[in-house]
Amino acid sequence: MSASSQLSHPLRSQRLNQITHEPHSRLDNLVKSHDPFASPERFAHFVAAQYLFQRDLQNLYNDPALIELVPDLPQRCRVQHTVLDLADLKRGLPEGDERIRNRQMGLGEALAWLFVSEGSKLGAAFLLKRMPALGLSETFGARHLGEPEGGRAQGWKAFTAVLDSVELDAEQERLAEAAAIAAFERFTEHLERCFA
Ligand code: HEM
Repeated sequence: MSASSQLSHPLRSQRLNQITHEPHSRLDNLVKSHDPFASPERFAHFVAAQYLFQRDLQNLYNDPALIELVPDLPQRCRVQHTVLDLADLKRGLPEGDERIRNRQMGLGEALAWLFVSEGSKLGAAFLLKRMPALGLSETFGARHLGEPEGGRAQGWKAFTAVLDSVELDAEQERLAEAAAIAAFERFTEHLERCFA
């Protein structure tokens, strides 16, 4: 029996939460191990990783079929915030690749990638508290961590309501779970590159 078939949560968002718990703690530890709050220069490497991740998902955030499900989807994308943050921090844009941007995804997969990006806004509230010590804020250098319009909790609730309501067949369900894990792996890859 695969790990995922043992999961019992009725809600998809809860199942994705559960299977990404471990990758999330590993990523959290990895972020901390790079000491991103030691200086604005170190924090800029973290922002560069966020930029690459948002860039990966930029086309999904602007996908007409997904916007039908989540009307404010384009406004949720933070690629522009990270571009401005990197300019504030005087760090050039890292070069990305097209591997994820150009991937054709089914609905389950697409929503799972967005789940990870949208979920990262919850942790951002904690990261934002560290910014004053660096002279940064949601209007300078750490815009991408700022409170989304309408509030973090509300935005997350609205997104997961959609995620939980779409119908997926067993294969798409499986692909969604794999995509959530892949999204954490991708962020890890960006982080390692940007801090190298
Ligand atoms: C690329 C994806 C993600 C990154 C880089 C990320 C990063 C982080 C980091 C570094 C923290 C620690 C903040 C601190 O304690 O100082 C954190 C906390 C948190 N993250 Fe994430 N996260 C990601 C995805 C997610 C997802 C998908 C969810 C929800 C489904 C989520 C929910 C949370 C919550 C609720 C916290 C608050 C503390 C906790 O309960 O552990 N994050 N995140």
